[in-house]
Amino acid sequence: MDMNSKVRLGILVSGGGSNMQAIVNACATPHLDCAEVKLVVSNRSDAYALDRAKELGIESMLIDPKQFPDRNAFYKKIILEMESRGIGLICLAGFLLKLEPNIIQRFKGRILNIHPALLPKFGGKGMYGHFVHETVIKAKEKETGATVHVVDEEFDHGPIILQKKVPVFPEDDAGKVAARVLQLEHKLFPEAISLYIKEYLRKGKV
Ligand code: GRF
Repeated sequence: MDMNSKVRLGILVSGGGSNMQAIVNACATPHLDCAEVKLVVSNRSDAYALDRAKELGIESMLIDPKQFPDRNAFYKKIILEMESRGIGLICLAGFLLKLEPNIIQRFKGRILNIHPALLPKFGGKGMYGHFVHETVIKAKEKETGATVHVVDEEFDHGPIILQKKVPVFPEDDAGKVAARVLQLEHKLFPEAISLYIKEYLRKGKV
């Protein structure tokens, strides 16, 4: 890999897209000047992330799983769109569908996910959005955080690239914890992407 060429990022989203926006913004700064966002794909037509991408001038598209006979075919289409733009790293930024082996194999070691908790705790099926933070509060945790990891075949699993913590206060509700974690995510994801590109992709470890 050419050390000076930017790694092209493809971002998969299902919702608000604030992490996607944080990545796009960071690419315009020295924090993440080794990357550029080339494509945003949403599986949902109502994802606010699509509006954000338009405003940011980033190419975006809806790929609706209901338009495909099965998930395999859906991911085949995503692979096609990513490969035709030379995407070197896929970032899951609030993408709520489980990946199929075809895309995991095709982009082996080249898909990163952000999860709003300290994995391996509070991950897995059903652990998304406010469910994560409600479970953290119920468990009386004194701290939570966010994790960026390489995606493998298991949900919320795979080598951890970076993880950071925030406190949980006794008076917190899930909304307060969610806001604190999301703010952390906006710094953590760009930092983890930069680290992964410099320490793994560019050193040929993937
Ligand atoms: C984040 O908390 C992320 O960790 C989780 O979904 C949320 C997405 O938020 N996977 P946004 O769409 O980036 O605003």
